[in-house]
Amino acid sequence: MEQEFFGRNIVVTGAASGMGRAQALVLSREGAKVWLADIADGPGEALADEIEARGGSARFVSLDVRDPHAWELLRDRVNGEDGQLHGLVNNAGVSHRSGIADTTIEDWHRVMDINLSSIFYGMKALFPLLRECDSASVVNISSCAGMIGYPAAAYCTSKWAVRGLTKVAALEFAEWGTRVNSIHPGLIETPLLRSGSERFAEESVKYVPAGRLGQADEIADAVRYLLSDGSKFVNGTELVTDGGMTSGGLFHRISHELSDFARR
Ligand SMILES: NC(=O)c1ccc[n+]([C@@H]2O[C@H](COP(=O)([O-])OP(=O)(O)OC[C@H]3O[C@@H](n4cnc5c(N)ncnc54)[C@H](O)[C@@H]3O)[C@@H](O)[C@H]2O)c1
Repeated sequence: MEQEFFGRNIVVTGAASGMGRAQALVLSREGAKVWLADIADGPGEALADEIEARGGSARFVSLDVRDPHAWELLRDRVNGEDGQLHGLVNNAGVSHRSGIADTTIEDWHRVMDINLSSIFYGMKALFPLLRECDSASVVNISSCAGMIGYPAAAYCTSKWAVRGLTKVAALEFAEWGTRVNSIHPGLIETPLLRSGSERFAEESVKYVPAGRLGQADEIADAVRYLLSDGSKFVNGTELVTDGGMTSGGLFHRISHELSDFARR
C-alpha cells in the first residue's frame, strides 16, 4: 500500500518523548524521513535508531529550540541533505503550573522562550525550505490552555500566543502554498502531564466528557491529518483534541453530579 508521506521530509521538535515521539513514529511509518529535534540526546538518538531498524528514515539533531542559531544550523543540514522541507511540527514544550504571584521572572522567560519564541525562530529559519515545496504544512502544538483560562501564568499565555502566531504565519505563508495550523490537546498521558502534582490529572479528568485522558497516538493522528493532503484547504485553524473538555467540561461535571444527586 502507498505510504502517505513517502518522499517527504518533516521536522518534529520535542521528538524524544511523549507526543513528539508518537508523531515521529507515525510519520516514519507513513514513509516520511523524520528529523528528530530535541535537547534529550540519548532518547532522541535511540528513537532514530529504532525508526531506522524498522526500515524507516530518521535523523536525530540535538537542538535547543530556544537558540535561533541552532535552528539555522538545522536549516543548513536539512538543506544540504534534502534541499526542501515538507513539514514542520513545533511540538517541544514545558509545563509550568503557577499563577502570577508564584511565577518568577526567570520562569516566565524560560516558559516563553521554550513554548513560544521557539516557534517564531523555527518558522523563520525553516520557511525558506518549506516554500520550496508546493504544499508544505506547519503544525504548532498549543494546548487547550490556549483556548480557555488556565491557572498557569506563563504556560497559558504562551499557548494563547502560539495560537495567534499561527494565524500570522497562516496568512503570511499562504502565498507559497504553506499551511499553518495549531493543535490544542487536552489532558494527554505523557511525562509532561504527570510532572508536578499527580492529583492534577486525576482531578482534571473528571471534567472530560470522554471520561478519560487522551493518548499521544491520538494527537499524532491529528498532526498526521494536518500534514496530509487530506487537509490541503485547512489553513489557520485551531484543532481542539481534548475529548470535549473545553466545549463544556464544567457543565458535563455539574450534570453528572446532579444526576448522581437525583439518584440518591
Ligand atoms: N501532555 C499534555 O497533557 C499536553 C496538553 C496540551 C499541550 N501539550 C503540549 O504538547 C507538547 C508536547 O508535550 P508532551 O506532553 O509530549 O511532553 P513531554 O515532556 O513528554 O515531551 C516534551 C519534549 O520536549 C523536549 N524539550 C523540552 N525543552 C526543549 C528545548 N528547549 N529544546 C528542545 N526540546 C525540548 C523534551 O526533551 C521532551 O522530549 C508541549 O508543547 C506541551 O505543552 C501537552
